Amino acid sequence: MAPSRSRAPLLSLLAVASLLPHSVWGFDCKDILADRTHFNFKELGGPHVVHWQEQDLAKELQWKYNFTVDLCDSLKWHKGGSLATECHHGARVCGIRENIDLSSDKNSTITPIDIAGTFQTQNGRNIDARFELLSRSKSHSDAGREGVRATLNGGRFPFDKKKEGTNQRAIIEFVCDKERTGLEGDEKDVRPHEDGDKEEKKGDDKKEEKLRAREENSNGKCEDTDASLRFCGYQEEIEDKDKKVRTLRLEWRTKYACEDAPAVDGGSHWGFFGWFFIIVFLAIAAYLIFGSWLNYNRYGARGWDLLPHGDTIRDIPYIAKDFARKVVGSVQGGGSRGGYAAV
Ligand SMILES: *[C@@H]1O[C@H](CO)[C@@H](O)[C@H](O)[C@H]1NC(C)=O
Ligand SMILES: *[C@@H]1O[C@H](CO)[C@@H](O)[C@H](O)[C@H]1NC(C)=O
Repeated sequence: MAPSRSRAPLLSLLAVASLLPHSVWGFDCKDILADRTHFNFKELGGPHVVHWQEQDLAKELQWKYNFTVDLCDSLKWHKGGSLATECHHGARVCGIRENIDLSSDKNSTITPIDIAGTFQTQNGRNIDARFELLSRSKSHSDAGREGVRATLNGGRFPFDKKKEGTNQRAIIEFVCDKERTGLEGDEKDVRPHEDGDKEEKKGDDKKEEKLRAREENSNGKCEDTDASLRFCGYQEEIEDKDKKVRTLRLEWRTKYACEDAPAVDGGSHWGFFGWFFIIVFLAIAAYLIFGSWLNYNRYGARGWDLLPHGDTIRDIPYIAKDFARKVVGSVQGGGSRGGYAAV
């Protein structure tokens, strides 16, 4: 008489719910998992900018880069932005390159470079974020370092060209530094965004210090600055199978990368189980409501009879009482055996 109980819809709902955060958002900056250690990088969210410039004096060319990273969300376009000046929607790491022709005055062009993100357009490139503890890394240079290495993929430049393009990725090393929040010397993206959000104040350091030319091929060394987020390189690297991938390397010194990092206030603690219980609760509620409605319409049921399995539900208090009595009885029996058992 009760509607048939199929668990398939509930299971598929659960499956979808557990897949969503990964496929849609890439990863959750509030709960980053690296080799069973959790990190909360919520405080590092929002767009943060680092600079770099390289030049080819023989060709009288210069390239100035602004790299913007947002760990927690995809980057928003600036007001009046277009694909000529902005990365594709879904980018979390974006490079804006200014190509300067040193031979002709004031003639420069802007080229956006998608470095990492999850993009809906084209063939749906995915950020495929990977996290590993520096202490577990095979590399010798990581010995004794505490922190996480994040590899963020999905970028390509030129984005639309399948053949000529080069894959892009960002590798960010979050290094434990108990003295730093990670926002020291920070440069926020200060230009107004499309959705008109109010931007926070600029970082506390002088901007002129930020633009530093770097020697070519100084791999492995980071920019010499006191800022917590530092540029360490943007070179072509060989991934497995001889595939070239141009890799933006950043280092981020922060206490949130310490394995005993302080808990971040206001962080949401809904883990998988939180959502699991919410979904189970909603499913039960929906089942009861729908079941009642069916019973009401089909059988004209009233009162307790409205509920599917109404009689079972009605009996729950008695079953519980019975159970409690048994438990109490066995505990008392066990506790008093010494006194009375012999009688
Ligand atoms: C890069 O950043 C600097 C400083 O924030 C800014 O003046 C410049 O216009 C930016 N360049 C591009 C191409 O966005
Ligand atoms: C800038 O250079 C482009 C070619 O690279 C040329 O077509 C354009 O006329 C130049 N603009 C100025 C203002 O010199």
